[in-house]
Amino acid sequence: METKFVLLILTLLLSISVTVRTDYVRPQPRKTLHFPWNPKPPSQPQQVHISLAGEEHMQISWVTDDKSAPSIVEYGTSPGIYTSSAEGDTTSYSYLFYSSGKIHHTVVGPLEHDTVYFYRCGGQGPEFQLKTPPAQFPVTFAVAGDLGQTGWTKSTLDHIDQCKYDIHLLPGDLSYADYMQHRWDTFGELVQPLASARPWMVTEGNHEKEKIPLFTDAFQSYNARWKMPFEESGSTSNLYYSFEVAGVHVVMLGSYTDYDELSDQYSWLKADLSKVDRKKTPWLVVLFHVPWYNSNNAHQGEGDGMMAAMEPLLYAAGVDLVLAGHVHAYERSKRVNNGKSDPCGAVHITVGDGGNREGLAAKFRQPQPEWSMFREASFGHGELKIVNSTHAFWSWHRNDDDEPVRSDQVWITSLIGSGCLAEKNYESRKILISP
Ligand SMILES: [Fe+2]
Repeated sequence: METKFVLLILTLLLSISVTVRTDYVRPQPRKTLHFPWNPKPPSQPQQVHISLAGEEHMQISWVTDDKSAPSIVEYGTSPGIYTSSAEGDTTSYSYLFYSSGKIHHTVVGPLEHDTVYFYRCGGQGPEFQLKTPPAQFPVTFAVAGDLGQTGWTKSTLDHIDQCKYDIHLLPGDLSYADYMQHRWDTFGELVQPLASARPWMVTEGNHEKEKIPLFTDAFQSYNARWKMPFEESGSTSNLYYSFEVAGVHVVMLGSYTDYDELSDQYSWLKADLSKVDRKKTPWLVVLFHVPWYNSNNAHQGEGDGMMAAMEPLLYAAGVDLVLAGHVHAYERSKRVNNGKSDPCGAVHITVGDGGNREGLAAKFRQPQPEWSMFREASFGHGELKIVNSTHAFWSWHRNDDDEPVRSDQVWITSLIGSGCLAEKNYESRKILISP
């Protein structure tokens, strides 16, 4: 009798645990974080973030309320001992009744690879530390788009902070300031602990586009605050650029600037892809905001125009992986091209699930397309560990009650090892070499 009772209890407990695991209740949107007014000395550096700035160089960016504060960065490999210094440029902007602080951008280097540096901005204030990326594989990227500044954003950032990574990739929609300029400042403060320690490489989304006709340009705040190394890659616009790190060529495109065949972005992309040396950078990764392969009901078809114009270039170049945001959910495709599976196309991953105040895009189209391998509407982040020239491990971590839970994972093999590039005939590649 007693044994039967124990078995009954065990069966009940087992059924409860199975139920809990299968009926995952997706979290509700969390409130926008409240940032109490915290006055600081006018010359104290705020909103410190860093980004790669060409071979062996890093750009340090920060804001001061004091318009006469110097743009000097002192740095070295031991705490408090600054053996080098560099001076940079500044900018500022006005937006209706708002006036930004002084925005400093200072490039430091040359720096050693895979090395911790201690630095101080403006000759005073707290000491920060950063780690430079490695020169060779393995290299790890953290990926999270559509961040915003809510309780879920904080949860996502906390999880990324627990991961061992070298560079943060952000496929658009940073602050969700949405014309309220002080929200750019609070976003800068929110991300400073992470963005001052590892380079943040970002591209723009629709929420960066704050145009007021006759008054302000579309990307005024974004361009002033999040200056990326576009000149270093031959681009004339902060809205698209490329960089190389540890055997990976990364292209950051703009979904909200011209992309047709007559556009500057198209010409730049074609030239940039033509110059990629797969012996030096066996991996080719592209980021932009609006996904081309999306089976969510949200934002259906929005990427079609850019896809029609630019996918032939990406296919000809043999792009391995495309990372996008915009849709507030997660989705991973097979290798695809021209709307269907293709072993020589790119894997497309949407990670617009950083945690912004608009909440999740919960409804997916039925049936699931043949190219769609995994899809789920939850907040979270991705990690891309490129292990060597042929193998990379991708994992997606859902914010499950504030715990990061690895919910999708896959080994991706690069096209360089597949024979796709060698087998491609002249017709599929000539788009890159034609004038
Ligand atoms: Fe978006």
